[in-house]
Amino acid sequence: MSERPGTLADDSENDPFGGRRLTSHERMSGKPWDASYSDGPAPWDIGRPQPAIVRLASTGAFAGAVLDAGCGTGENALLVASLGLPGLGPVLGVDVAETALEIAREKATRKKVNNREIKVEFAAADAFQLERLGRRFQTVLDCGLFHSFDSEEQPRYVASLASVTEHDGTVYVLCFSDQGPNTGPHPVSQETLRAAFNPGNGWNVVAIEPDRVHTRFHGDNGAPAWFATIKRIQTAGMGGPK
Ligand SMILES: C[S@@+](CC[C@H](N)C(=O)[O-])C[C@H]1O[C@@H](n2cnc3c(N)ncnc32)[C@H](O)[C@@H]1O
Repeated sequence: MSERPGTLADDSENDPFGGRRLTSHERMSGKPWDASYSDGPAPWDIGRPQPAIVRLASTGAFAGAVLDAGCGTGENALLVASLGLPGLGPVLGVDVAETALEIAREKATRKKVNNREIKVEFAAADAFQLERLGRRFQTVLDCGLFHSFDSEEQPRYVASLASVTEHDGTVYVLCFSDQGPNTGPHPVSQETLRAAFNPGNGWNVVAIEPDRVHTRFHGDNGAPAWFATIKRIQTAGMGGPK
């Protein structure tokens, strides 16, 4: 096996990381993300959509093609796809954890609205290489992914998001916040969000509201969170909308 730092590149048959660069979380834990799903529900996998996403969806905020980046077992993507919202395009959930994707696909086959299967797709993809999808999205959801990345990864992830978000499209980020007691792991500050998504790299942070992220270990009220609404904008020198 040839190894570059932070990668397990060439032994793809036995490589639980699929040849991609390891994330900071995987380096710290020594395990692929997939391992979180192999032994019962992961700590964040609450078996229902996050209440903040349910609320958001009820406002009709999901429009056009939708990407759920780091979709896990698909609860949020399944909710969005099942609402039959006017103007909603295809819903795609992506993750690096194959076990989570299998669970998500299985849920999708069981979920019916008006006796019809809902239209949602789950695919393996690396959030750092979203341009490889060859698709663009009007709405992107990040529920618990941004906060898992360190300061070196965040700009690479945001650039990857930029490559697939339509001009004037919206990214919603729900992440652990650094405010209040009982914070989740890797809490994020408002400043971190504003630095990652800024006008210089083609983003306008429209709002960052306090919210909650529910987990299997934070009790009924969940953990403090930020809910960020971020628009993709065009900046000088970026050329016209594609
Ligand atoms: C905290 S979990 C949140 C899962 C889901 N959004 C939810 O709310 O249940 C983060 C998810 O991001 C996935 N993930 C981590 N790094 C990723 C990457 N580079 N590309 C795609 N997915 C990734 C993990 O496998 C995991 O499913």
